[in-house]
Amino acid sequence: SLVDKANFRHFMAKEIHEQPEVVGHTLARYVDMAAERVLLPVNLPFDFRDIKRVSIIACGTANYAGYIGKYWLERLARLPVEIDIASEFRYREAPLSEGDLAIFISQSGETADTLAALRYAKEHRLHTLSVVNVTTSTIARESETMLQTLAGPEIGVASTKAFTCQLMVLAALAIAAGKARGELSEEDESRLVHGLIEIPRLMSEALNTEPQIDRLARDIAKSRDVLYLGRGTSYPLALEGALKLKEISYIHAEGYAAGELKHGPIALIDENIPVVVIAPYDRVFEKTVSNMQEVAARGGNIILMTDAKGAAEATIESLVTIILPDMAATFAALVYAVPVQLLAYHTAVVMGTDVDQPRNLAKSVTVE
Ligand code: G6P
Repeated sequence: SLVDKANFRHFMAKEIHEQPEVVGHTLARYVDMAAERVLLPVNLPFDFRDIKRVSIIACGTANYAGYIGKYWLERLARLPVEIDIASEFRYREAPLSEGDLAIFISQSGETADTLAALRYAKEHRLHTLSVVNVTTSTIARESETMLQTLAGPEIGVASTKAFTCQLMVLAALAIAAGKARGELSEEDESRLVHGLIEIPRLMSEALNTEPQIDRLARDIAKSRDVLYLGRGTSYPLALEGALKLKEISYIHAEGYAAGELKHGPIALIDENIPVVVIAPYDRVFEKTVSNMQEVAARGGNIILMTDAKGAAEATIESLVTIILPDMAATFAALVYAVPVQLLAYHTAVVMGTDVDQPRNLAKSVTVE
């Protein structure tokens, strides 16, 4: 059945490995594969051309999916987007304009802070759209529009496949918004949708990094602190990588925008702190390479996740590279999520923690 561990030692491992399949199911729900068009399964009760600002609201891993969605909506649909932690959005009394859009992201659909934020947005007459995995949940029922992630039941407390399915829905939504606002042509749409159609295969290839990551995890497990760096959508993915590691291995980790390194965390760099750099070959790749050089110059040990073979080794010696498949960079976060999750998972296994049920954490937090 869907809710046993099959041949895996933990639900988390099974759920990481299921991603090509469930992300593929989610893709099939939101795009017409043959025509290379986005096809939302619902009629939206608003016109994207009328939206002045989008607020994306969620907690935990869902919040980081939203953060990546912000980059896509801004870039592809030229829509101003704010990303908020649900407990902050609800109480800080930010000015909201009637008729704008609030997007809520939640695997369970029952997270108390996210639900309170949804009710608050409705009181302020915003359009509300939820991206949820459990369609019978309170958040699904109470939001004006619901877009389902087809991750299937997620048992591991640390979210993995729900996260990448959320990304897939947000990518499709960003393309739909770009189309509706006249920011994307039909050619743009088919190029982007084509890129999405490639994602499940690329995620399967990314799973091939597992033996290498398993070996690296033995070193990570000896560390007290780990730093994750990235630019663009790799920045929220760095935040997610740090969250994943601390949740299940109890090793302190921080995610940082690579460009922000020099404003603080560089003070921590020495040979004892592994630095995980997420750097697909995109328009900011060279900038990230110079941040890596700053780390290397201070004796830091770098683990680089990239598809730019050889580009970084040329300038930096103390570097381990995890090579990901070549791909168009826009939606790289979906593929790079895989090694990021595997690194946290294997480190936790080395540490001997209760991977599926980490201490002090709950799968769904129904108190504010
Ligand atoms: C808990 C879980 C996280 C999850 C967060 C939000 O903290 O441990 O994995 O990301 O809640 O949950 P939701 O169900 O709203 O996505």
